[in-house]
Amino acid sequence: MIQMNHVFMTYPNQVSALSDITLEISPGEFVFIAGPNGSGKTTLLRILFGAERPSRGEVVVNGMKITERRFNRVHSLRRTMGIVFQDVKLLRDRSVSENIFFALEVTGHSRTEARRKTWEVLSRVGLQERGRDSVLNLSFGEQQRVAIARALINDPPLLLADEPTGNLDAQVTTEVMEIFTSLHKKGTTVLFATRDMDLIQRYPHRVVYLSEGKTVDVGKGIER
Ligand SMILES: Nc1ncnc2c1ncn2[C@@H]1O[C@H](COP(=O)(O)OP(=O)(O)O)[C@@H](O)[C@H]1O
Ligand SMILES: [Mg+2]
Repeated sequence: MIQMNHVFMTYPNQVSALSDITLEISPGEFVFIAGPNGSGKTTLLRILFGAERPSRGEVVVNGMKITERRFNRVHSLRRTMGIVFQDVKLLRDRSVSENIFFALEVTGHSRTEARRKTWEVLSRVGLQERGRDSVLNLSFGEQQRVAIARALINDPPLLLADEPTGNLDAQVTTEVMEIFTSLHKKGTTVLFATRDMDLIQRYPHRVVYLSEGKTVDVGKGIER
């Protein structure tokens, strides 16, 4: 599903964010991208999302060679993935269902289809009862679940999450993790960036550990 071969990323200010990353992720895997602040997690996800072009190396996502010089299918690429960020970025003056509905409309769904799909994705994150509430009345964890629902609207086979539990307390983190776990159980491939090593230790998933832009320890699960 994802192949990165000798990927380097140096930003225009000469900061080297990724240095010789080689990584393969199979369909259906749940992989933690771990590492401290500044280790390159966000850069790695942004490359997979087509938001940054690496300075060197080859990246293939869902069969698309996105590092090809003439690659121009960023929209097709993004339709195959959902992305969840730490800072939720919802339309704050709108209801929960409107947030999902608008995202469906801009990706070309008919109004009837968008209405049906809105309730479907909200029920997948356990928020079907909250559709009419204003986003302002939700807890931060519930807002994060709306963001996850929004990432699911195109039924993406791949979900990228950039520190989605970074601002949440332990209880809410567990709730959000349960949603990612259930999506993974249904077959979604999940890439989950976090610097929370305690969180990682609670799950049996593969860990790719980044330090200063290099993978220092690529393990399968955690010994315990
Ligand atoms: N747009 C940018 N321009 C220049 N340097 C950047 C940019 N984005 C990130 N960096 C630098 O790249 C390195 C990796 O950052 P990042 O990928 O955000 O790491 P993480 O998500 O693990 O905190 C850091 O040194 C950071 O300062
Ligand atoms: Mg980051």
